Amino acid sequence: MSELNLILLGPPGAGKGTQAERLREDFGLPHISAGDMLRAQVSAGTELGLKAKGYMDAGKLVPDEVIIGMIIDRVGDEDARDGFLLDGFPRNEEQADALGQALKGLDRRLTAALLIEVPDEEVVRRLAGRRVCVKNPTHIYHVEFDPPKHEGVCDQDGARLQQRKDDAEETIRNRLAVYHEQTEPLVDYYERLGLLRRFDGSRNADEVHRHIRAALATLRLEEKL
Ligand code: AP5
Ligand code: MG
Repeated sequence: MSELNLILLGPPGAGKGTQAERLREDFGLPHISAGDMLRAQVSAGTELGLKAKGYMDAGKLVPDEVIIGMIIDRVGDEDARDGFLLDGFPRNEEQADALGQALKGLDRRLTAALLIEVPDEEVVRRLAGRRVCVKNPTHIYHVEFDPPKHEGVCDQDGARLQQRKDDAEETIRNRLAVYHEQTEPLVDYYERLGLLRRFDGSRNADEVHRHIRAALATLRLEEKL
């Protein structure tokens, strides 16, 4: 079977996590969220988590030596053999090079970089209203755009919903600045490699999902030819 080795690019709040969960179900690929993996390390109080916490709370990128090994190891896991949805990695050129090298070493290559584009003002509205499940952070809601059936409670497992610590307005501004400065250059990087696919993330989540799913179905067909 052809592999679908995918990365999701886009500013904070673009909907990377929201779309990755839907695509995970469509294509049966593991959703590898760099942010969720780091937050799990922070909660568990590991050495890696302790190193990452201050950067995350400030909305800065954690150092490459903290993140690269963790993600590259995960991509090599058995469940990612037929492909993966990498959400939030790579976030700078060094990380993109490291991923490319690692895949090459496994005799694999990236299928596409999916860019979800959303303007800065919309990012602030989305993150200020975001709520995530305390039990499973891939269960994501929005107080206005995607409210749970019962306020403050996860539809899927009944656990409490909370705000992410880095969703305070000032931290959101920092994260946006970091995105434009350090991560946005990857748009050109993947465009040059012929891997970039752009999606209008300002549409509603169902529409964005339909567009990405259709593009991936076409890509998969092309890979088989
Ligand atoms: P990370 O967790 O990756 O955060 P992020 O990139 O800032 O992205 P978010 O998770 O905030 O947004 P999202 O695009 O997933 O949007 P979501 O689907 O939730 O990283 C956090 C931190 O970890 C970083 O700041 C850094 O410190 C560190 N880190 C992580 N990776 C790193 C790396 N590679 N290198 C170094 N450091 C790293 O949606 C947002 C909201 O909008 C939700 O409420 C949702 O319901 C709503 N929504 C989604 N889609 C739509 C839509 N189409 N219309 C309306 N509402 C929508
Ligand atoms: Mg996310």
